[in-house]
Amino acid sequence: MIYPDWMSALYDNAVMKGPANPFERPSMVVLDGVDHRKLRQYVARYFTPANARAIRDDITEIVDDTLVGLGVMREVDLVSDYCKVIPAKVSAKILGMSDAEARMLATLGDESVKMLEIGRPFKEFSQVERCIERLDTWIDEQFRLILRGRRKPAGLVGILAKDLGKPQPPLTRREAKALLSLLVLAGFETTVNLIGSGIQLLTQHPEQLRILKSEPQHWPNAIDEILRIDGPVLGTVRKANEDDWIGDVRVPRGTFILVSGANHDPSVFPAPYTFDIKRINAKDHITFGGGRHFCTGAHLARVEGEIALSRLFKRFPNLSPSAECTRRTSTFLRGWQSMPMRLNDSDAME
Ligand code: HEM
Repeated sequence: MIYPDWMSALYDNAVMKGPANPFERPSMVVLDGVDHRKLRQYVARYFTPANARAIRDDITEIVDDTLVGLGVMREVDLVSDYCKVIPAKVSAKILGMSDAEARMLATLGDESVKMLEIGRPFKEFSQVERCIERLDTWIDEQFRLILRGRRKPAGLVGILAKDLGKPQPPLTRREAKALLSLLVLAGFETTVNLIGSGIQLLTQHPEQLRILKSEPQHWPNAIDEILRIDGPVLGTVRKANEDDWIGDVRVPRGTFILVSGANHDPSVFPAPYTFDIKRINAKDHITFGGGRHFCTGAHLARVEGEIALSRLFKRFPNLSPSAECTRRTSTFLRGWQSMPMRLNDSDAME
């Protein structure tokens, strides 16, 4: 950080009084150096590709259950009835929460993500504050129950609670709470948007969907192409901690840099607005950021997206909109607000 020490101290003092905020210190997304590495290693212990493979079965079960529920509905809003249900249940599983708690998590994730918007009205600001507070209180309560032996430690909440119980905890309680609330927020709306945009792109490009039906080995690449062409995060903002260069442009220390748009750079991705699930370098997108803050949930999100989309189109191959689908309005996130769909499952594949 480049603020004078006295200013940082004042800020920390003010921030530390409220609930742990996923986008304020000591959340890893706004830390640098040793502090950032410490928290990052913590998450890396859990979010390994091997662990994501292990929860593949859990994700498949969650997706299949949700599809059974959809089957009896015929006409659905796929955003609320599918895209939101899966990431909420998967996050709940990872954190060690029950299905009922997953519903609370979905509501909190939905509401508190508004904190990323610029120029929010005061009413919305207050709603977001209340959500952060509820999440903070809920996490605190879980730590308390686990440490007193009243709740069985499970998932990441369990791992962190056990560490907090050590004589010299490697983490402070506030770090642990900021970490968990960041995971709830960073992993929810983004994955909802990935699944939603995937549904839209594939229903609008039936020729690409046909390829996936006959050559399902292209699903992983298709997910990266979805992330590239219509990614859930429109950009990230970072501040230069030292003087540097980006290509020929001098970047003085303290400059704010908006990282955005590179996924449609024609010199990297020829015909950038063509949706091509076989695009050779689809994986070169920057939708998960880059460098030290590269998304720790990237592997999980890809697996989740693949299972959610491939199984949805296998079960309901003739999905079609039943009314106009609407986009969500947001400065930094891109996705769908509502997606009324007819399932047309008369010739569904089991
Ligand atoms: C399609 C889904 C996702 C997208 C597009 C996405 C995107 C991103 C981006 C762009 C960043 C970098 C932010 C920056 O540099 O300021 C990031 C960081 C992060 N993401 Fe994701 N994310 C997704 C899913 C997830 C999931 C499922 C989780 C975990 C459950 C997660 C956890 C995180 C965390 C903890 C960070 C902070 C990493 C750090 O600061 O070192 N994300 N994500």
